[in-house]
Amino acid sequence: MTAQGAWTSFWQAGGHQAAYSAGGSPEAVLRAHWTNTFAQLTLRPNERVLDIAAGAGVVSKAAMDCLPGSEHLRFHGLDIAHSGAIAYGTACPRGRAVVADAAALPFADESMALVVSQFGIEYASESAAAEAARVLKPDGYLRLALHYREGGLFLECAANRDAISALTQSNLLTITRQLFETHAGPGPDGKSRMQLLVAFNSASRVVADHLARAGSQVAGGTLLRLLQDCSHMVGRAQTFEPQEVLAWLDRTEAETALFARRMHLMCDAALDRPAADRLVEELKSQGMRLEPLQALTMGTHNPLPGAWIVQGVKGPPQNNP
Ligand SMILES: C[S@@+](CC[C@H](N)C(=O)[O-])C[C@H]1O[C@@H](n2cnc3c(N)ncnc32)[C@H](O)[C@@H]1O
Repeated sequence: MTAQGAWTSFWQAGGHQAAYSAGGSPEAVLRAHWTNTFAQLTLRPNERVLDIAAGAGVVSKAAMDCLPGSEHLRFHGLDIAHSGAIAYGTACPRGRAVVADAAALPFADESMALVVSQFGIEYASESAAAEAARVLKPDGYLRLALHYREGGLFLECAANRDAISALTQSNLLTITRQLFETHAGPGPDGKSRMQLLVAFNSASRVVADHLARAGSQVAGGTLLRLLQDCSHMVGRAQTFEPQEVLAWLDRTEAETALFARRMHLMCDAALDRPAADRLVEELKSQGMRLEPLQALTMGTHNPLPGAWIVQGVKGPPQNNP
């Protein structure tokens, strides 16, 4: 599944309002960050705001709520996923949804007064930073919150990714399928029902061991729920309609594959310090004047950095001799 396909399916399936939500709840910290950020900016009527990789527009909505005079500004939410743009249009009817790659923005040079992105441009290729700077007007504002490698959100995504990987390696869903496909007769490769039940028990143990290590609530409790559901269905196989179980397995396998892909994408997109420094240098080389890189801390029980905060303004145009 391509990255674009994974995001398209995610937003098609309704997504979460904030696509970074993978079980935890960093929304309040991020919302406070954006509220504070936007309250300090001054834009002129009719100026344009671009939210890159906007998803369902959580940042645009915060900007609409908090930017002084926002009712006179023009908002654009850009996303590579068509379904993301539809979600944006629904959530932010005042904004214009645009489907495009952040690495090739379909906007003129110096056409935006404010460019924002939350967990967005780091998914695109490296030229996305230069593109963000290109479309900013001189004195235009750049405000980014980027995935922080080894931070709280990253660790949560990595734990979710590993949980789905343990599920796949256990073959729990595959064996459950075989048990219901062969409800009335011998299994694949002549395996008897008894052999399949033995395999099911050992697959269940693999998943239970992973849950014991990672915690029962890993992946938002999905792994535990799947183990319980499969055990329940296999234990009371006579009371279930095989076709219904097989249809449930089809849906479950598709959903877990999509979830795993999204967790991989989020982990891969996260920036360590050298990568964040490179992004800052790239932006500076495009004429951005940036504040020192900061980390935004998230989580109440175990506060950890969750996002790199990159912010600054575009310098005046260079005078070519
Ligand atoms: C983690 S979500 C963040 C969405 C939103 N900014 C938020 O904070 O809720 C990442 C978004 O980036 C989009 N995306 C991924 N690659 C992209 C690219 N190359 N260009 C534009 N958008 C991209 C995805 O479709 C998805 O909506």
